[in-house]
Amino acid sequence: MKPVLAITRRLPDAVEKRARESYDLRMQDGDDPLSRDQILDLCKDANAALVSVGDPIDAAFFAALPQKVGIVATFSVGTDHIDLAAAKANGFVIGNTPGVLTDATADIAWLLILGAARRASEGEAEVRNATWSSWRPTHLMGTQVTGKKLGIIGMGRIGQAVAKRARGFDMEVHYFNRRRLPEDQEFGATYHASIDDLLPHCDFLSLHCPSTPETRGMVNRNFIAKLPDGAIIVNTARGDIVNDKDLIAALKSRKLTAAGLDVFAGEPNIEPAYRGLPNTFLLPHLGSATVETRNAMGFRALDNIDAFIQGKEVPFRV
Ligand code: DGY
Repeated sequence: MKPVLAITRRLPDAVEKRARESYDLRMQDGDDPLSRDQILDLCKDANAALVSVGDPIDAAFFAALPQKVGIVATFSVGTDHIDLAAAKANGFVIGNTPGVLTDATADIAWLLILGAARRASEGEAEVRNATWSSWRPTHLMGTQVTGKKLGIIGMGRIGQAVAKRARGFDMEVHYFNRRRLPEDQEFGATYHASIDDLLPHCDFLSLHCPSTPETRGMVNRNFIAKLPDGAIIVNTARGDIVNDKDLIAALKSRKLTAAGLDVFAGEPNIEPAYRGLPNTFLLPHLGSATVETRNAMGFRALDNIDAFIQGKEVPFRV
């Protein structure tokens, strides 16, 4: 008999195929976000669970999860949807998928930088809505990226990949990280020992830090005030790092030229004011959404589960 695996969302074909070969799957028919109770129901006779970003894997979930489940592997590197302390207290192992979404996410950060700087949303809307009247010298003039200063907060794998790409745009890169990186991982970037020190050097600012009690709401009025006038912020990390009200005010007043956002507090129910602002370039959390990367994430999640079920060390244990 195969072990039972509960899976909360549809997975890429290749990942579901591999999962089916080793496990007896418990899945929903559709692909809707499930409530805590619905996930617990899927898990009732499971030996392992594979969950995704946005699933409510909180303290109440762990309190009710049968001990037989053993491991909860998330199809993500981020674990902010999981109450890690409650998992530990209740004896559950947690696995995640670091390392495989670096390039895809760095590419999306660059899509946001370019899209926000070059007014891509406004331009695309004109073409789609047939409101593009003519070529004209003053039409949708954006901000040049080449040669500008890019600030990065969080110089982990993704921050480094963003810095590496910035060299192709002849940008001067500055970064803040809890510790300075060895020179070969800095890609020529200048280290700042504090965020306050970094902010005045950012024509563009890209966020790559996790959501933690320290970073939640970090991008607020005071923070934005320290950026140069006209700066552009992009976020591919987590939405709750940003104070939406303060960011929206800065976009309205043009203290900030634009923002490119792939992640949002409370997504998919985003702060509605973002939608009405011409100077936002918005994506629905697509950072890791390439076939290659999503397959790799799924395989990594399955590697974690396989190892646990076989009594081996879980390779990407949180
Ligand atoms: C993650 O893995 O945490 C990402 O946000 C998914 O794109």
